[in-house]
Amino acid sequence: MTDLTGRRAVVTGGASGIGEACVRAFAAAGAQVVIADLNGEAAQRVADEVGGEAWQVDLGDTAALATLSLEADILVNNAGIQHVRPIEEFEPERFALILRLMLESPFLLIRAALPGMYERGFGRVINVSSVHGLRASPFKSAYVAAKHGLEGLSKVTALEGGPHGVTSNCINPGYVRTPLVEKQIADQARLHEIPESEVVAKIMLTESAVKRLVEPAEVASLALWLAGPDSGMVTGASYTMDGGWSAR
Ligand SMILES: NC(=O)c1ccc[n+]([C@@H]2O[C@H](COP(=O)([O-])OP(=O)(O)OC[C@H]3O[C@@H](n4cnc5c(N)ncnc54)[C@H](O)[C@@H]3O)[C@@H](O)[C@H]2O)c1
Repeated sequence: MTDLTGRRAVVTGGASGIGEACVRAFAAAGAQVVIADLNGEAAQRVADEVGGEAWQVDLGDTAALATLSLEADILVNNAGIQHVRPIEEFEPERFALILRLMLESPFLLIRAALPGMYERGFGRVINVSSVHGLRASPFKSAYVAAKHGLEGLSKVTALEGGPHGVTSNCINPGYVRTPLVEKQIADQARLHEIPESEVVAKIMLTESAVKRLVEPAEVASLALWLAGPDSGMVTGASYTMDGGWSAR
């Protein structure tokens, strides 16, 4: 059982889905957890349940993060959104927001947390990437671009952080049972011209050898191990949890 007693963990997007599962797993392992989320009410609800702290923040507003200083032993860059459109219809403003939220803000949070991690000689940066950090799908230009960028940022963090006891890794899930997935079913159905009831089987699970969605708790259990003391030699890595999708 991983023990995170005495560790302070900041989880972005911690009020829902994968982030919330990470918050619960880290808190159960003894960490003091900060739930950073746009949805302040939901963040406070989760914080109250686990004895953590809510931080209401818009991570799409990167200008406000440029001068941030962050106390964290563990940083989980997880907040994210999806938008499904062909490139020629993809709204430039939405593309820019996704890049800010899912690539620039992880950079700014890592930048804000590293000085403290270096001082203490310990840090765990966990970037919730995706199978889309390693593979592309049509209609997801911003998401795939942001996740591929996050893979690069994670590796550079690993190289710079290594001598200071700081590791940085990505987790690469396939489709996970969360609101982010539920919200894209209508768009996927329209763009692929199939009924909504067929999206999970025909679009989401086609490449996967294991024909089911990933559960948030499964992602959190890998994040917990990466956050703990036994993962010190694991850095610059990308851990797929995609039911075999990327084995193709
Ligand atoms: N669900 C999947 O299938 C899946 C697969 C692979 C990777 N991921 C990644 O996992 C991460 C979490 O996704 P999820 O499925 O748990 O989604 P989710 O929608 O359940 O949760 C995302 C959280 O991020 C928060 N958020 C959104 N915009 C924000 C902003 N501007 N500032 C601060 N917080 C903001 C939301 O309020 C929400 O609580 C994302 O980075 C996503 O790309 C998800």
